[in-house]
Amino acid sequence: MTNLSLAKVFNLDMPEGIEIEQGCGGAFVPPQNPSYKLRKELARVMYGFFVSGDVALTLMGLQGCGKSSLPREWHARLGYPLMEYTCNARTEMTDLIGMYKPNEKGSLTFAEGPLLVCARNGYSLLLDEYNVMDPGVAAAMHPWIEGTGAYVPELKEFVRPAPGFRVFMTANPADAGQGFMGRVEQDAALEDRSWSVWVDYANQEDETEIVSQIFVKSGESPESAETVSKKMVEMANKLRKQFAEGRLKMAMSTRCLCRWATCATIFSNAGGDTTPLSFGLELAFTNKLPPEEKAAVNEMAYQMFGGGPKK
Ligand SMILES: Nc1ncnc2c1ncn2[C@@H]1O[C@H](COP(=O)(O)OP(=O)(O)O)[C@@H](O)[C@H]1O
Ligand SMILES: [Mg+2]
Repeated sequence: MTNLSLAKVFNLDMPEGIEIEQGCGGAFVPPQNPSYKLRKELARVMYGFFVSGDVALTLMGLQGCGKSSLPREWHARLGYPLMEYTCNARTEMTDLIGMYKPNEKGSLTFAEGPLLVCARNGYSLLLDEYNVMDPGVAAAMHPWIEGTGAYVPELKEFVRPAPGFRVFMTANPADAGQGFMGRVEQDAALEDRSWSVWVDYANQEDETEIVSQIFVKSGESPESAETVSKKMVEMANKLRKQFAEGRLKMAMSTRCLCRWATCATIFSNAGGDTTPLSFGLELAFTNKLPPEEKAAVNEMAYQMFGGGPKK
């Protein structure tokens, strides 16, 4: 049995003695993202959840705050298999447990779904956007996320999840007022069976580091990358405040900040009448806003970064 130090694996400033047993590896371990920065507050939750032996953990938060990437990168770096399934309004238990599929002999074979594969093998399952699923289907998940399992008639077998089986569920809040459509309030009984984590956008320091790496990768010096990233994060935080006050259609997410930075590096020599930053901002964010909000955000960018307002 090999133990991995979280401080070493994630390059975190924490005691090296905090360790997690290395996973079993294999084809279902996600690929690593070397740019991923594990936030300390989330490292603490994941560590606790992994050692608790519990099965289900729910990550709630606004778009692009780092929900899906957390279990993905945790499994990648620690060598644990993770299967991902993105839920939709028509997801049925058969999509998760399995269904009969035609085979080359012209008959039907039972193809196990991701939930069954994970439960039988002790893998993790990431159910992305779980609250767009019908609550009735989600209710059928109860015996699985409780770890008891259920009878699968097609296998003529009562399947008890193997040790190591875990379910991660991510969701945006079920709030159309905040721009999240088609999300359904889930049954309290489901939520009662799961750890619940609210994921905020990363703090200023962590988010600056996340954005900064994108500029550094494109050849920018660490100092100037940090200076510009800090200002971008500052602007994102101002926009988030405006969103929370109902003055903006959407918050600027970490995903959006990263795209803004990437676009700014791609178009750095493109010329034209806009700066790379303002062009990047448009592609990543402002083109999604109504005209008056777009103008206000461009004006804010002009005040903060200079370069001329985009008309
Ligand atoms: N801690 C992080 N380190 C590096 N990039 C991150 C981090 N958190 C978020 N990101 C960036 O933001 C994007 C969105 O994150 P994701 O976890 O997919 O958000 P969510 O699932 O909450 O919508 C990622 O693809 C990545 O580019
Ligand atoms: Mg996601």
